[in-house]
Amino acid sequence: MLSQYQQQYAALSDVTFSENEQGVIFIHVASSLAKAQLCLQGGHVCAFQPQGEEPVLWMSDSALFQQDKAIRGGVPVCWPWFGPHPNGLPQHGFVRNQAWLLESVEQQPDGVITVVMGINENEASRALWPHAFHLQLAVTIGSSLEMALTCRNVGDQVIEVGGALHSYFAVADIGHTRIEGLAGVSFDDKVSGEKGIIQCGDVLIDQEVDRVYLNTESEIFIHDEGQNRVIAVSKQGSRGTVVWNPWVEKAASMGDFDDEGYSQMVCVEAVNCGDDVFSLNPGENHTLTQKISVKH
Ligand code: BG6
Repeated sequence: MLSQYQQQYAALSDVTFSENEQGVIFIHVASSLAKAQLCLQGGHVCAFQPQGEEPVLWMSDSALFQQDKAIRGGVPVCWPWFGPHPNGLPQHGFVRNQAWLLESVEQQPDGVITVVMGINENEASRALWPHAFHLQLAVTIGSSLEMALTCRNVGDQVIEVGGALHSYFAVADIGHTRIEGLAGVSFDDKVSGEKGIIQCGDVLIDQEVDRVYLNTESEIFIHDEGQNRVIAVSKQGSRGTVVWNPWVEKAASMGDFDDEGYSQMVCVEAVNCGDDVFSLNPGENHTLTQKISVKH
């Protein structure tokens, strides 16, 4: 596959490919607008750094890049459900654990590059979820990062889909970070189990935070004061926003999460869960997007 992709896109000098010892294929973008790294394991965006800016996405130093494993950091794709499954199936669905295919790479005259990765139903997916689907992530890399996750019901039964673009953001210091855009929004607190709490003011993180904000389509502004920047995160096709930071103990308990990493990250996720999941008739699509840019 690696040599096939290298030949197919040889004319695009801003795009290169590599493969690690575990057979995971990476796509490297280095244009005049931004650097980015994507990976076909999980259909994953690993890194994004606009020209002249610090890295925007957080990646664990102990993340695993191997077949069948989800990657800790960047933007995992959760699908066709978000969070734990009532029947004990894998948390956040199964596509983050599988290898995807590269569908296309294009560069516009202005330097913007779009990489499309996709995955279809397969033996492993059918064992967990017996439905036909095509799932595609179109990643547009310019001075901002745009991701559009489109699922299509290619079978002959109705399917129900949820999911998330589970973005991990890099901040200089979580103690000097505030998250604007959720004031007045109701959330379910997965740490305390309380439901329907109203957010007062900005979100500050000084303990484990795992919250599902409901019925919100607002743009979020992550004020990364330690780096004098604001990361703006907008979305479409989602009414749930999750804010997650595992804090000290939970970070230490996860093998692929560096112990100190919690102090330099926060997840702000565009989510379809609860009553914001979609019933798709045969032939229907649903698209979930997230757009990320840096402001000063
Ligand atoms: C968040 C969930 O989206 O993902 C958390 O709200 C969860 O509850 C976190 O801990 C990480 O999940 P995982 O499966 O990648 O460890």
